[in-house]
Amino acid sequence: MRLIRVELGERSYNVVAGEGLFPLCAQFLREGNYSGKALVITDRTVERLYAGSFMAALRESGLALSQIAVPDGEEAKSLEWAGKIYDKAVEEKLDRRSPFIALGGGVPGDLAGFAAATYMRGAPFLQVPTTLLAQVDASVGGKVAINHPAGKNMIGAFHQPDAVFADLETLKTLPARDYASGLAEVIKTACLDGGGWLDFLLGRRDLIAARDLKVLGEIVSRCCRYKALIVAGDEREQGQRMFLNLGHTFAHAIEAEGGFRLYTHGEAVAVGLLGALALSEEFAGLQKNVRQEVSELLSAFGLPLTAGKVDPGRTFATLWRDKKALNNKLRWVLLKAPGEPLVKDGLPPEAVRETLAALLKDG
Ligand SMILES: NC(=O)c1ccc[n+]([C@@H]2O[C@H](COP(=O)([O-])OP(=O)(O)OC[C@H]3O[C@@H](n4cnc5c(N)ncnc54)[C@H](O)[C@@H]3O)[C@@H](O)[C@H]2O)c1
Ligand SMILES: [Zn+2]
Repeated sequence: MRLIRVELGERSYNVVAGEGLFPLCAQFLREGNYSGKALVITDRTVERLYAGSFMAALRESGLALSQIAVPDGEEAKSLEWAGKIYDKAVEEKLDRRSPFIALGGGVPGDLAGFAAATYMRGAPFLQVPTTLLAQVDASVGGKVAINHPAGKNMIGAFHQPDAVFADLETLKTLPARDYASGLAEVIKTACLDGGGWLDFLLGRRDLIAARDLKVLGEIVSRCCRYKALIVAGDEREQGQRMFLNLGHTFAHAIEAEGGFRLYTHGEAVAVGLLGALALSEEFAGLQKNVRQEVSELLSAFGLPLTAGKVDPGRTFATLWRDKKALNNKLRWVLLKAPGEPLVKDGLPPEAVRETLAALLKDG
């Protein structure tokens, strides 16, 4: 079991990564300063797989438990489903010391966190992430949100969890495509953190593909440690937290152009990361072998290197609609070297167009 501390003053909390953590979560609830009720928010697939064992373990918390399952996928991150969570919380008479517990991937996590942030001006919130993406990224850092028809995550808040319990055993049942999507964020973090991370991943690619729990423990804790440091220094994304968006400028446009169906978030990040590294070679002096290593890793995990299913012209236009386009200038996270990210505003549009065209050719 590994413990990572997110230092945020009185809002500090622990991320625990390990196996068989449901009883520990129950103990945390029993010992915490909570009123007698808790609401577990999950999705239908996770409910079928884990709600039975999770609720059984949570009985030890001594809290009266209720449960709501939302549909799988992005459409649950809506005002409609947030409303159903409020309805359930009111019906069960939850008060502002009753924890909301997200059991599932980034979708139940973001949605439950948003509901917790707004219910009675802020109820406590626990994360029990069950996807790799949520364990290495979404469950840590306190960004919570729902979607608006005009864009993803447009309605949101910063609301830190009281604790995160990342049970590695749940990753065994994750579909291959979701597992690979989480690995794209891991590779992104490896680029940002440096320190031989890319070599570590390359050297263990077979163990990673086999979902070896020991190597997953190292990966989840190392990613959380990096994110925890960044978030501790910049909770509200005024500065260094932007680094976490490496590869995401292209990725958001590719995802949106694919209607959020053709490519998963992680697949779009894989392609976007290669684009950011190509731009980094041109504008930040990044050595070419880094992009080569990253391509090797992405291929080894079955992630795409190009996104030929979306149209380059339309995707180029979508880039500028990204909510991060400031004064008509796009903000780019580039890499000087692994471990040395930097932020650059306004690269020449022609260079961006050419890089994008190369990314969107049929692979
Ligand atoms: N808040 C943040 O900082 C942050 C960061 C990154 C991503 N996100 C958000 O996270 C979401 C994506 O997260 P995700 O990829 O975890 O999506 P998800 O929650 O939709 O999970 C993906 C799929 O895996 C299934 N699943 C979950 N756990 C499983 C398990 N253990 N075994 C089998 N199936 C399982 C789910 O039912 C779902 O169908 C997006 O909405 C994104 O915006 C948030
Ligand atoms: Zn991401």
